[in-house]
Amino acid sequence: MTPENFAPVCALADLVAGEPRKAVVDGTTIAVVLTDGEVFAINDICSHGQVSLAEGEVDGCALECWLHGSQFDLRTGRPLSLPATDPVPVYPVKVEDGTVFVATRSSDLT
Ligand code: FES
Repeated sequence: MTPENFAPVCALADLVAGEPRKAVVDGTTIAVVLTDGEVFAINDICSHGQVSLAEGEVDGCALECWLHGSQFDLRTGRPLSLPATDPVPVYPVKVEDGTVFVATRSSDLT
């Protein structure tokens, strides 16, 4: 187990269910998503075409890229549909005292 470096991102109250919110954590641009009562953090860049996933649509626990429609599992980052075939990094999230924290620098994220 390696320590994770959680950084505050936003207030939980700032998140709207099903609407991705773009944020920068330790130099990494991420999309933070509240859906199904859980908060997820995924790298903002689609693995297929270098566009912002935060501008995509949420469908349950998946985030759909707006450009070509690949869906990525918010729990694993794996693509659920073509044309993307490579996963997008996802990051640990915790919510404490109404604040959302995300760890993008954990050494076990490689
Ligand atoms: S750029 Fe995201 S699926 Fe093509």
